[in-house]
Amino acid sequence: MPDLQQALAEVVGSRHVLSDPELTSSYERDYTGRYEGRARFVVRPADTGEVAGSMAACARHGAAVVPQGGNTGLVGASVPRSGEVVFSLQRLSEIGDVDPAVGQVIVGAGATLAALQASARAAGEDAGLDFAARDSCTIGGVVACDAGGARALRHGTARAHVAGLEAVLADGSVISRLAGLSKDNAGYDLPALLVGSEGTLGIITRVRWKLEPLLPARVAALVPLQSTSEAARLLAALRARAPSLESCDFFLDEGLRLVLEHQRRESPLRAAAPLYVLAECAARSDPTEELAEALERAGIDDALIADDSTSRAGLWTLREGHTDAINAAGIPHKLDVGIPLEQFGRFLDRVPDAVVAAGGERTILFGHLGDGNVHVNVLGADPGDPRVDNAVLEMTLECGGTISAEHGVGVEKARWLERARGAAEVAAMRAIKRALDPDNLLNPGAVLLSAD
Ligand code: MLT
Ligand code: ZN
Repeated sequence: MPDLQQALAEVVGSRHVLSDPELTSSYERDYTGRYEGRARFVVRPADTGEVAGSMAACARHGAAVVPQGGNTGLVGASVPRSGEVVFSLQRLSEIGDVDPAVGQVIVGAGATLAALQASARAAGEDAGLDFAARDSCTIGGVVACDAGGARALRHGTARAHVAGLEAVLADGSVISRLAGLSKDNAGYDLPALLVGSEGTLGIITRVRWKLEPLLPARVAALVPLQSTSEAARLLAALRARAPSLESCDFFLDEGLRLVLEHQRRESPLRAAAPLYVLAECAARSDPTEELAEALERAGIDDALIADDSTSRAGLWTLREGHTDAINAAGIPHKLDVGIPLEQFGRFLDRVPDAVVAAGGERTILFGHLGDGNVHVNVLGADPGDPRVDNAVLEMTLECGGTISAEHGVGVEKARWLERARGAAEVAAMRAIKRALDPDNLLNPGAVLLSAD
């Protein structure tokens, strides 16, 4: 049997099997800098056949693999941990023609979200999903971690956009459901199982993506607020009065100050407030009146309204700029949790003290208010120290929340899965993992601590 490097080179060509540290290093460190490990090789297949051939070669050699798209994951699941073969899917970047009759398009796992958005727009449609990593994140990863973002409030997470997919399994076989049939209940829904499986059950190679109608009329409002109860009142008013509501995100003053400093700009607001909500409405015709009525009903008269694309983008960079500004200030612990809205205020009030008690220094909170999704970012704790993570996740479960809302479980939260889901559910997950990946070759250590 040829050695693994030779076997992979026979499938993808030797220049697409990287082993020189200068070439592999960017695949070995995650976006936050918190997760890093050495790869045995980085393999760069060009299409599904090459992914399947590479996987079959790895299976023959008992070599574990880590699938990787744009490497924008935030839970340590996209980088190697101990000598796995990294499968970079970036060359699978083809985007097919939009089928206007069904509003769907077949997208390669390596196409960026921004490229999908551009293709959709060119066909008078919308991808229905958006977040700050759009230019680098790739559709395979987006689906593998069931990514969300600001527009999930209205259009759902990635899962809602998957009309079918194609994937390579642990033995190199290919499963394909790309016909896009809206009714197809023949057998188990394997594509649904692969969504959110974080590369542990199969390697997604193509996705049939459901688009949304393009809504060209947009208006955003940045609303300074004194408390989380005011935020809950505003959300209720927006839901009641503004059916065009698409996003309702939030951030706090400490985060805003960090972003302004990082972006070297002044606050667009006259006065600071403890909490800010950034809401956006989208419709076929101008939704400004709807938004104004909702704001009035919530008793708000000092919102900053942005009704053209430049000023809307200016407001969104304040919210989306949090990730880069935090990264520039240090290596963060990033916990992405979901909290029931009635517990939102309690969680936000208590989490900074719990973080300090667990050895962290600074807590920056922001996220997607409408989905109860809080991004807890902690600076000043050692990257390898789990105490901060434990404190935040403990409080999350105490509030009736979930340990993962849109970033996934990854390696970061694998040891918490049983607490969050219960022994019976995790035993069922392990049984699925063993059935599809008996040798634990696919992203071992992500999602499930062990397969047995
Ligand atoms: C966001 O909402 O900006 C993303 O989830 C990224 C992050 O949490 O840093
Ligand atoms: Zn988010």
